[in-house]
Amino acid sequence: MQRNRDRPTIVTIERVIDETPTVRTLVYSDDVMPNVLPGQFAMVWVPGVNELPMSVMIAQEPGKAAFTVRKHGLASTGLFNIKVGDQIGIRGPYGNAFDVKHGKLLLVGGGTGLVPMMRMLTFVRSTDDVTVLIGAKSKDEVFFEDLANRLLEGNSHKVIVSTDDGSYGQKGHVTDILEGLVYETRFDGIYTCGPEAMMYKTVQAAHSRGIFVQASLERMMKCGVGICGSCCVGEDLVCRDGTVFDGKHLSNNKEFGHFRRSKAGILENY
Ligand SMILES: Cc1cc2nc3c(=O)[nH]c(=O)nc-3n(C[C@H](O)[C@H](O)[C@H](O)COP(=O)(O)OP(=O)(O)OC[C@H]3O[C@@H](n4cnc5c(N)ncnc54)[C@H](O)[C@@H]3O)c2cc1C
Ligand code: FES
Repeated sequence: MQRNRDRPTIVTIERVIDETPTVRTLVYSDDVMPNVLPGQFAMVWVPGVNELPMSVMIAQEPGKAAFTVRKHGLASTGLFNIKVGDQIGIRGPYGNAFDVKHGKLLLVGGGTGLVPMMRMLTFVRSTDDVTVLIGAKSKDEVFFEDLANRLLEGNSHKVIVSTDDGSYGQKGHVTDILEGLVYETRFDGIYTCGPEAMMYKTVQAAHSRGIFVQASLERMMKCGVGICGSCCVGEDLVCRDGTVFDGKHLSNNKEFGHFRRSKAGILENY
């Protein structure tokens, strides 16, 4: 019988990987989630706590998928504290996907925004020349650098890490490095996911040079299926119309990069 994506499927956590002191990857077996497209997400129910949107992480084992969670508020800390043998509910997959171009590609990820980027790396062709830009606050918070290098072993590639405090890789924000890269290289596609300020600058830098760019937006979500309106950015509902949007579309959205909505739906400055 085909699975109803709007009903939670219960899965059991089989492995927990500590990526950094505040980020963990939880691996589980499932029929659907290992095969989702880059950019798609699931609504994850943490029993007794809440439900939250999470990008679906690759697990590099047949029949397995994962979530990579940073502990933040109540729900994400509840998920972060899940142990091997515990159960969670998953709905989805939801959302559209990145349109994977080929040639010279640039992927820009900050924090857990790297999750859809890692899945995207499994969709590139061996002939693609891929640069991955990883942004983190400090050395302790850098993760997926080794994974990105492993996934790109057969490609011409570069993985560049930047930390805000300069404790690892290049010092500064990813967007500073991005400006230089976009100036030097004519990319065929730029893809980004992470803090909205980072995505905004990435979209601006690419779009102003006429380079194809897409961003996967992370907004407050409650239903995940276009009913509650909590994820709206201007006229767009991130869960239903995205999460992936073209730079061209985003450049006409007055809220992207400037305003977000609180849990009560109130517009706030970023
Ligand atoms: C499509 C999508 C995919 C995501 N993928 C991941 C992932 O792979 N790993 C991961 O760790 N997190 C991911 N997130 C973010 C995650 O869902 C939020 O961190 C989580 O909802 C915060 O819940 P909380 O109860 O822990 O924090 P809260 O107490 O609800 O909030 C703490 C802070 O986080 C902000 N916040 C709350 N919800 C969101 C949200 N949905 N997006 C952005 N900021 C939020 C609040 O404004 C507040 O400042 C994703 C979000 C979206 C929309
Ligand atoms: S989360 Fe409810 S409409 Fe998008």
